[in-house]
Amino acid sequence: MAGILKGRSFLTLKDFTPKEIKYLIGLAADVKYKKKEGIPVNHYQGKNIALVFEKTSTRTRCSFEVAAHDMGMGVTYLDPSGSQIGRKESIADTARVLGRMYDGIEYRGYGQEIVEELAKYAGVPVWNGLTNEFHPTQMLADLLTIQEHLGRIEGVKLTYMGDARYNMGNSLMVACSKMGMDFTACTSKDYFPDAGLVELSNGYAKESGGSVTLTEDVESGTKDADVIYTDVWVSMGEPDEVWAERINKLSPYQVNKKVMDNAAENAIFMHCLPAFHNLKTQIGREVYEKFGMDGLEVTDEVFESGQSVVFDEAENRMHTIKAVMMATLGEA
Ligand code: CP
Ligand code: NVA
Repeated sequence: MAGILKGRSFLTLKDFTPKEIKYLIGLAADVKYKKKEGIPVNHYQGKNIALVFEKTSTRTRCSFEVAAHDMGMGVTYLDPSGSQIGRKESIADTARVLGRMYDGIEYRGYGQEIVEELAKYAGVPVWNGLTNEFHPTQMLADLLTIQEHLGRIEGVKLTYMGDARYNMGNSLMVACSKMGMDFTACTSKDYFPDAGLVELSNGYAKESGGSVTLTEDVESGTKDADVIYTDVWVSMGEPDEVWAERINKLSPYQVNKKVMDNAAENAIFMHCLPAFHNLKTQIGREVYEKFGMDGLEVTDEVFESGQSVVFDEAENRMHTIKAVMMATLGEA
């Protein structure tokens, strides 16, 4: 399949076939192996990429930068206040400027329509580093991590707990349903994914042999799951005022030992990170003072347990992002 993704943007997994997704995971596993063995993959000298971040980041930014440096490329990072984008210059104009100088553009920000517009006008591949709706590079890292730990992707039962109507819930539902996995959103009805996206995912599941389930019941929703996945209850860009409602509605869906004990015997715990699992963050302490919870979406016990594979996921962000850049810039 080498070469077939050349020139494509990577905006959401909706745009990719299961075969293409598998190809990207395979390519990521290959470059991961090569990095560990010290075999260079650096045929991209002379290429340059722009990283546009309208929201903060640790993993995504570092993954793009390290992957680009490994491959011999130049990188420009534009921080949330460091460009004219959206304020003094339209998305279309920004895209046409960056597209004249760079070989690829990463964008992290708000609405999915922004990254779609960038891709429409840039004339070079655009990579979605997270929008309110989707986080597709995270999906590749998660699928690679699942394959590494469980030895398979197809047939894996993944339960997502928490805010399932935002970027992570949406993306996991699409990824799982495309890859023949059994996806369950286990959360309050108020946080179920958008009905249109559920319908679309049900269609993918029909093709792949997977399934999509939405439930408010923790006992049945987590029973025998191979993967228990969660994310923060309040996402970047959301106002502080929503904390009270989230804690009220989502506390029953905290990932704790009881949940892990109800899952399959060798179940793994996953989280895209950053996570609120102790009082070692400023927001964690503020929430504790107001609401008295010292772990939010996941307890410290589960986060630090042997079942937790969160740092493998974080590392895999870099290898999978490298694969996305290689495939869309053209494999050398
Ligand atoms: N998971 C993830 O996207 O992390 P960052 O926000 O640190 O990039
Ligand atoms: N839902 C989270 C994901 C962070 C990687 C957010 O958007 O902040």
